[in-house]
Amino acid sequence: MGFFACVCLLQLLFLCSPPVAAAQQQPSASPATALDAMLQEHAYQALAHRPRTGIVYNGTVPGDLAGVAVSAVRLRSGSLRRKGFAGYFQFALPTGVIAQPHAERVVLVYSDLGNWSDHYYPLPHGYTYLSPVLGLLAYDAANLSAAEGLPELTIVASASPILVSFSDVVRALPPGGPAPRCAWFDLDGVAQFRDLEASGSNVCATYRGGHFSMVVNSSASVPAPVPPAAIAPLIPDSGGPATGNSQAWKIAVSVVGSAVALGLLASVLLCLVRYKRVKKLEVMERNSEVGETLRMAQVGRTQAPVALWTRTQPVMESEYAA
Ligand SMILES: *[C@@H]1O[C@H](CO)[C@@H](O)[C@H](O)[C@H]1NC(C)=O
Ligand SMILES: *[C@@H]1O[C@H](CO)[C@@H](O)[C@H](O)[C@H]1NC(C)=O
Ligand SMILES: *[C@@H]1O[C@H](CO)[C@@H](O)[C@H](O)[C@H]1NC(C)=O
Ligand SMILES: *[C@@H]1O[C@H](CO)[C@@H](O)[C@H](O)[C@H]1NC(C)=O
Repeated sequence: MGFFACVCLLQLLFLCSPPVAAAQQQPSASPATALDAMLQEHAYQALAHRPRTGIVYNGTVPGDLAGVAVSAVRLRSGSLRRKGFAGYFQFALPTGVIAQPHAERVVLVYSDLGNWSDHYYPLPHGYTYLSPVLGLLAYDAANLSAAEGLPELTIVASASPILVSFSDVVRALPPGGPAPRCAWFDLDGVAQFRDLEASGSNVCATYRGGHFSMVVNSSASVPAPVPPAAIAPLIPDSGGPATGNSQAWKIAVSVVGSAVALGLLASVLLCLVRYKRVKKLEVMERNSEVGETLRMAQVGRTQAPVALWTRTQPVMESEYAA
């Protein structure tokens, strides 16, 4: 009886484990990454006809992305490093900014995701956007007719930080509420939060390129003026592409799965201990009753765990394959 319970538990455990592991190792080809690639192509199209170095060209985006703005500027790497590039929309690039790996000329692609910010960069529970997500990415300018799929260069501010001034795009907050914060998104679209450069300044500082915004912890304010857009990502909807929902669900599934797996593991261990004790008693009984040979008794005492595993495995495998 106890033994079969153990086998069942073991099977449950092994059946449960793979989804838990899979949920934690999802590939990261996010919609945000695909959008970056597409915007790069549209930015390059704006530069297509002998662009002048240092002049900002606005790209056009397809109609189904109405609300997104993209621009591009081509610069010599040396000039960028020596002089910086102040006033690239909300970005101020100081001296000492380099792009890695090295390229003779770079294209800086600016994007303003507008009302698509939530869609491509869903915020974790409790946070609300105060500004659109602004992007600053760099690409090699060697081939301006290169289509979508150019690898990004890493923008590094080696002296002072790049400043992002949100003043002209930030939504005003009621006074006395929680302090706004800077959000920075890594390549997987995961948000990280930092304080503003100075309280009330609407300026964020960064030593890297990427995507930036200003956010507020809306659950911290007492009247909780949460607009519908902030609530939407919390409601599971099966329709759209992978968003914060799927992230949240993945985490929930992982947590529940891990808890179940841990519970099962504990039960299995208990079972094994009990099974071993019962088995040992059985062997001892049999030995004393029937007068078994010494060899049998030794096997029973010292090899019990090994015998258990070799007996259990075939059951599991056949069940698993079925
Ligand atoms: C480019 O777009 C920005 C807004 O994104 C606008 O302020 C600017 O005037 C545009 N520049 C040109 C040359 O059209
Ligand atoms: C953003 O606004 C444009 C109109 O300016 C609209 O066509 C588009 O559907 C909106 N996008 C989202 C995600 O709401
Ligand atoms: C530039 O890229 C285009 C498209 O990827 C390619 O057809 C062309 O050969 C490239 N030109 C050079 C000089 O590498
Ligand atoms: C937001 O603020 C509330 C109240 O101060 C706090 O409990 C919560 O953890 C905060 N949320 C986040 C995501 O930091």
